[in-house]
Amino acid sequence: MMNLDEIYIDIMRLIKEAGSMIRERTYKSREANLKSCDIDLVTEWDQKVEKLIIDGISSKYFDHKFIGEEGVGGTKIQLTETPTWIIDPIDGTMNFVHGMPHSCISVALVVNKITEIGIVYNPFIEQLFTARRGKGAFLNGGPIKVSTEKELAKALVMIEFGTSRDPAKMDAVLKNVTHLTPLVHGIRCLGSAALNGCMVALGAAEIYYEFGIHCWDIAALDLIVREAGGVTIDPAGGPFDLMSRRVLCASSMELAQKIAKELTQFYPECD
Ligand code: IPD
Repeated sequence: MMNLDEIYIDIMRLIKEAGSMIRERTYKSREANLKSCDIDLVTEWDQKVEKLIIDGISSKYFDHKFIGEEGVGGTKIQLTETPTWIIDPIDGTMNFVHGMPHSCISVALVVNKITEIGIVYNPFIEQLFTARRGKGAFLNGGPIKVSTEKELAKALVMIEFGTSRDPAKMDAVLKNVTHLTPLVHGIRCLGSAALNGCMVALGAAEIYYEFGIHCWDIAALDLIVREAGGVTIDPAGGPFDLMSRRVLCASSMELAQKIAKELTQFYPECD
């Protein structure tokens, strides 16, 4: 029998430790290595944070599996029924490299393919978003709720440009910006998928969508948004698939379906 209360205390301790580790580093070095292309970055701190969390969890929970952005756990991306931690050690690596204080550690625990814990922690401005299934969503310990706005014309929409220069993907991104700008209240982009989603959970924005993200970018935010009373669906309007590399979260299903109808779709290769 899993003791989720105990697991939650353990992961919070590790995340706080990881946060202290990276908080000091952001302005010190702009060094980064490239992954899939010149805007897909990794730093030594991404790898250190992922290792700290994986080592900390696996020293106590021997059967738990890991899907981490940097592949420190060595496992290939395969979500099974086994308790699995989905980890983005630094979401918003580009911001981190530039010293922009909008990066976070994003961690989710998925058991039997159901997300039980979601944590998004921005240690630079001390924003800790947390959720456990059925228990609500919180910012720094205080409950949060999505906005009640139902009009697209009054909705603030979080978007991203992503970490790929694929021309077909960029075409879809830019078409959507052009089409949506006159239809919505405003468009914003924080440079971190997880923090964008948390703005919807907080009620500070109504919608966030993106094509091309990975499961580690969105696993935690999905639970946080739903526990704050919002919805996560596929950007074409169907059910959300964590591995599809497509996400649309909104403060209500009504608003989610309204924007889904307006979007030029892009279908990346799945995780
Ligand atoms: C990226 C950021 C970015 C989003 C990309 C993600 P990373 O994550 O969340 O805002 O547009 O899709 O891959 O690489 O900084 O962990």
